[in-house]
Amino acid sequence: MIDFHTHILPEMDDGSQSVEESLKMLRLEREQGIDAVVLTPHFDMRKEAVEEFLARREAAMAKLSAAEMPEMKLIPGAELLYSNIGLRQYENLEALCIGGRYLLIETMEPEWTQAFQTDLQYLILERNIIPILAHVERYYWIGKNRKILRALREGGALLQMNAEFFLHKQTLRKAMKLFQKEKIHLLGSDCHHLNFRIPNLGIAVQKIQAHFGEDAIHWILMNGERVFESCR
Ligand SMILES: [Fe+2]
Repeated sequence: MIDFHTHILPEMDDGSQSVEESLKMLRLEREQGIDAVVLTPHFDMRKEAVEEFLARREAAMAKLSAAEMPEMKLIPGAELLYSNIGLRQYENLEALCIGGRYLLIETMEPEWTQAFQTDLQYLILERNIIPILAHVERYYWIGKNRKILRALREGGALLQMNAEFFLHKQTLRKAMKLFQKEKIHLLGSDCHHLNFRIPNLGIAVQKIQAHFGEDAIHWILMNGERVFESCR
């Protein structure tokens, strides 16, 4: 099982603040049956150039790899914050992608705009980049987002949900409904720390399997493999 959304890479963003914290988070992932983790530190194009971000990421990866790591695969990525700058003027977005092809994207504004839809369609059609819509449960219920989500999904975008949404009494029903109705492609913990926003994907997977049966995550595993293939 692959965790597609994490802030485990040390000292990159508001996630892990040290190699020690990162290692503990990775061990927690491993204990829950996660054998590959996509490292997706926040990237805000209003504040930093892609090249600067990549240099920081490389240094953080090197620090982590030099430590005594649990046996698991680390895949570099990013979580791009979509703002009103848009995406078209950026020539090197591919470098932020998982396997050079899949780009995890969150939005600053909870209500998606036509410009957002058009920009993501542009990525798919003209840049050969597949957007992964991060934590769709945050946006799904707002305004016309559902319509945009379905259009993007039809165009090839992938949908990611956070484990956390399955783990609270208040959101569990909504989570299961969204998971099934929109055929969510990928799951992630979006973990930031050890004391809150923790690695919890394995626990959510158990809940999903208890609710829908063992095979319920077959589709998730398949999509994960598909994205993972691009990293080999
Ligand atoms: Fe995140």
